[in-house]
Amino acid sequence: MSGPRLDLAGRQAIVTGGGSGIGAALCQALVAARAHVVVADLDGAAARRTTERVVGPGSARAVALDVTDAAAVQACVDDVVARSGRLDLMFNNAGITFGGETEELGLEQWDAIIDVNIRGVVHGVAAAYPLMVRQGADGGFGGHIVNTASMGGLMAAGLITSYVMTKHAVVGLSLALRSEAAAKGVGVTVVCPSAVETPILDKGAIGRFHGRDFYLKGQGVRRPHDPARLADEVLEAVVAGRAMLVSPRTARVTWLVGRLAPRFTQRMSIGFVAKQRAMQTARADEAARLASGSQKL
Ligand SMILES: NC(=O)c1ccc[n+]([C@@H]2O[C@H](COP(=O)([O-])OP(=O)(O)OC[C@H]3O[C@@H](n4cnc5c(N)ncnc54)[C@H](O)[C@@H]3O)[C@@H](O)[C@H]2O)c1
Repeated sequence: MSGPRLDLAGRQAIVTGGGSGIGAALCQALVAARAHVVVADLDGAAARRTTERVVGPGSARAVALDVTDAAAVQACVDDVVARSGRLDLMFNNAGITFGGETEELGLEQWDAIIDVNIRGVVHGVAAAYPLMVRQGADGGFGGHIVNTASMGGLMAAGLITSYVMTKHAVVGLSLALRSEAAAKGVGVTVVCPSAVETPILDKGAIGRFHGRDFYLKGQGVRRPHDPARLADEVLEAVVAGRAMLVSPRTARVTWLVGRLAPRFTQRMSIGFVAKQRAMQTARADEAARLASGSQKL
């Protein structure tokens, strides 16, 4: 959607997963830009902490929200409209991850990641988009939806198959909706970062795969991106009405190589998986050696 730059001042926003990481950084950036934000998170205490930390001329209010609950997401949107008359910006950002060998993923984990990463985004779109279409019916600005996907939504990395699947769905939904929404005054942006320095890097690894090393080395990332910088880039993408933000620059290079040389990229992916397996096996052996040593003492 090209056109005048969007002024964020005074806008009403909801950020799901606003209690931590990228979501918390988005809340901070929005409040700094004079927007009014509902910080929505499964972890209500974390959402409240975000509201206490943000500084700036906008405002922030915390709500406990499970994005897997469609009725609760609708109620959250309805509440914003009841209080302030409209909802301008919907950030469907909450997400979880699982990493490890796919045969070790249980159906429970497949369901959980589909529920949060796909259904959670769908619930946000289903609640906000019809409203935004109505808001834009006079030919003005209807609203803007921002979905947090990942580089995993553009590239097919092994050992995070369930995550890759869900994030490809988010990219597909976002780009398809954008082309439909443009004429109705509603913008859509999808955010595709590679590794960002947030608590998610220490979550969701299963089997012998553990910790941030696993996620970072799997993506060939040495230093994760700064969430505050990413949040500023996201808001700039929204203001400019861009379809997609791939960040940082190294991620854009990786994505370009992936499109230009898919077979080479597939070979690299297979190599990364082999390296990851070798690294995790060495780590497990070392842990076993240390444990048997401490038992002898
Ligand atoms: N950090 C990264 O390296 C990275 C890279 C690419 C994409 N992402 C994506 O960015 C988004 C934010 O992740 P993050 O890195 O800030 O992680 P994070 O773990 O720091 O934050 C995620 C937040 O989502 C909340 N959440 C989880 N399930 C929820 C639910 N059912 N309802 C409401 N809230 C829920 C958590 O409580 C947490 O506060 C996710 O969609 C993630 O997949 C992260």
